Amino acid sequence: MAKSVKWGVIGLGSIANRVLKGFQATPPDATQVVAVGSRNAAKAAAFAKTFGIPKSYDSYEGVIADKNVDLVYVALPNHLHKPWTLKAIAAGKHVLCEKPFAMNLKEAAEMVAAAKKKGVFLMEAFMYRCHPQMALIKETVRKGAIGQVRMIKAGFAYGGINDDNTRMALAEGGGGLMDVGCYPVSFCRMVAGEDPVEVHCTGVLGKKSKVDEWAAGIMRFPGGAVAHFDCGMMVNTDWTATIYGTLGRIHVTSPWIPEPNDAKLEITLDKDGKTKTVAVPAKHYFANEAETVARCILGGKLQAEEMIWADTLGNMNTLDALRKSLGLAWPGEKKGTKPKGGSRRGQ
Ligand SMILES: NC(=O)c1ccc[n+]([C@@H]2O[C@H](COP(=O)([O-])OP(=O)(O)OC[C@H]3O[C@@H](n4cnc5c(N)ncnc54)[C@H](OP(=O)(O)O)[C@@H]3O)[C@@H](O)[C@H]2O)c1
Repeated sequence: MAKSVKWGVIGLGSIANRVLKGFQATPPDATQVVAVGSRNAAKAAAFAKTFGIPKSYDSYEGVIADKNVDLVYVALPNHLHKPWTLKAIAAGKHVLCEKPFAMNLKEAAEMVAAAKKKGVFLMEAFMYRCHPQMALIKETVRKGAIGQVRMIKAGFAYGGINDDNTRMALAEGGGGLMDVGCYPVSFCRMVAGEDPVEVHCTGVLGKKSKVDEWAAGIMRFPGGAVAHFDCGMMVNTDWTATIYGTLGRIHVTSPWIPEPNDAKLEITLDKDGKTKTVAVPAKHYFANEAETVARCILGGKLQAEEMIWADTLGNMNTLDALRKSLGLAWPGEKKGTKPKGGSRRGQ
């Protein structure tokens, strides 16, 4: 049998279910889920049974200590990403950690430093970056097909969330910016190929939740691009992105969660106003992500070029600055306003 990467999943909530359902729909190459862990033994056993996973544990430690597990998938709320990623790395496991990677840049830097020191693979689970449409967007922009990028517009907001959801808890890294705003922020930085030097964010902080329930932000990049985005958990907006250049524009119809035959780029050139539609077929988004992970680990790489560590750190730095502009500080953090950005990532 060809070599595969053996996954252990910790935290069996909504995203763990969605990823496993995605794997059922499209089994990713070179990937096997061999163990799952929950704080609740019955829940872990039921989850393992549903998805035909051989081993279940009543703790996350059990998965991390399992010698058969190569990679720990951290599918926990945001405030638990750092501690459990560090525990998995300390045990010599590769890690795929959910987005947003950490509570802030400081935590993210610790996680990256630990993976580098231990020599293990680590990636932020931004599965949208593993879809081939993102590579095509980067290539199209870099080769100047729409001229110089001047404006980028992107949005990701959904309506409806329960008060007891972890996204509504300040101490757990809640809020729409962290939950979904991290996607447009990441996308705009990818397109600009650099980090912003100026950011502003405003929104509505819930009276009870104290986190941003809907918000909008602006970012200015040193190369001259300006981006605006929306995000939130209490209103539906367009889940699309558009890049405007001096010669035309690219509209991305399904940037974040593209179903296998949904992804397309609509490229319009100003000179004739004609739109060319480029379909970008791919596997299920979670299969794309798992195959990216497997390719890197089996190839001995510590980072995936789709989501390099510097990019994750740049996103966390930008989210920190946006969050502070919004007036959203975690317990124990000071409020401030200025981003440190401006470094090019060479993408
Ligand atoms: N990549 C994507 O497309 C995507 C989509 C949705 C969410 N996410 C990310 O995935 C992570 C988890 O989100 P989710 O929607 O799966 O959350 P969720 O449904 O609340 O599940 C999180 C799981 O974490 C465990 N947990 C441990 N301590 C917890 C605590 N104090 N509060 C709540 N849960 C706790 C629980 O698992 P046990 O009971 O089994 O221990 C829980 O089921 C977040 O970082 C989120 O941003 C990513």
